[in-house]
Amino acid sequence: MEPTHFYEPAQGHGLPHDPFNAIVGPRPIGWISTRGADGVLNLAPYSFFNAFNYVPPIVGFCSIGHKDSVSNVEATGEFVWNLVTRPLAEQMNQTCAQVPPDVDEFALAGLTPVASRVVAAPRVLESPVSFECRLSQLVRLTSAAGTPIDSWLVLGEVVGVHIAQHLLKDGVYDTANAGHILRGGGPADYFSIGPEQLFRMYRPR
Ligand SMILES: Cc1cc2nc3c(=O)[nH]c(=O)nc-3n(C[C@H](O)[C@H](O)[C@H](O)COP(=O)(O)O)c2cc1C
Repeated sequence: MEPTHFYEPAQGHGLPHDPFNAIVGPRPIGWISTRGADGVLNLAPYSFFNAFNYVPPIVGFCSIGHKDSVSNVEATGEFVWNLVTRPLAEQMNQTCAQVPPDVDEFALAGLTPVASRVVAAPRVLESPVSFECRLSQLVRLTSAAGTPIDSWLVLGEVVGVHIAQHLLKDGVYDTANAGHILRGGGPADYFSIGPEQLFRMYRPR
């Protein structure tokens, strides 16, 4: 039996880098656009992001610390998720800059906010897929012992979906050719997805 490196996170990992993010990865990126109560636009990436339900569709992201995106969702009850593709990687990265709440990250990264159909928060014009979302739950995380943590899980029902026509091949969403990127671990690792990563496996009957 191969020996394992075992650690209890509360006591430290004993490695040069915390492997947690690299193991639970690569992760999809929640590129979240919001509008503040004062109207200022906000855009930021969250890789603690995923889909959690099918009907109704629910997505969520977790903010480590109560960041501007959470404050805006709390104030307005709305957000938009935007897909990050390879051509948008650099601009996505620029939108994670730690700037005061009155700075519009769309302008900072040279991106175009475009009006959504159902919610007041804008979507990113340059992104080929966006989900308009209404806040369903805002959950403050706790430790196993029940101690509140300064981490905030924002869950939202998807109430509007935009898909660029070129990504619908005979009406089927073309994940393999959409150019999705995913966040790996460490300070800088990302992965991009293409047709070469696709394999098919059907469920047993
Ligand atoms: C790819 C990527 C993923 C990130 N994921 C998260 C995350 O899951 N949770 C988080 O709190 N911050 C995450 N960050 C950092 C936030 O984007 C950053 O703190 C940002 O300034 C928050 O913006 P806001 O205050 O406008 O919401 C990530 C950054 C990058 C580049």
